[in-house]
Amino acid sequence: MYSKKVMERFQNPRNAGTLQGANAVGQVGNATCGDIMKMYLKINDNGIVEDAKFRTFGCCAAIASTDIACDLIKGKTIEDALKISNKDVVDMLGELPPHKIHCSVLAEESIRAAIEDYYKRLEKASKDALKKTRKKPTK
Ligand code: FES
Repeated sequence: MYSKKVMERFQNPRNAGTLQGANAVGQVGNATCGDIMKMYLKINDNGIVEDAKFRTFGCCAAIASTDIACDLIKGKTIEDALKISNKDVVDMLGELPPHKIHCSVLAEESIRAAIEDYYKRLEKASKDALKKTRKKPTK
């Protein structure tokens, strides 16, 4: 049985959907249940998470957990967003049935996957910028 808060977040998620202009996208799945979570982040030049949204093929607990997780990381630095654990998410929800704790892990892992994507994009952009400065050898 889910708590009132979990049910409310499940039925009225504030952060469900895709995010226009997302520059960090991560997808994770739970091999046991087959559920999938996709996280979209907009991170500004100062490394602050400006916005977060998610889409999922997941259960009630996964939806409620990730919706709360999006609220938790908005306004945080990347470093602080990476510190958010599934325990923080469960604490914010109040409780989850013990057999549903693993669903909150999808929220934590999807944040991490999106930030990994962000760093990959930054690395690629840096390499591309470097390539443009490469001069042709003179004869
Ligand atoms: Fe799969 Fe909840 S049962 S994430």
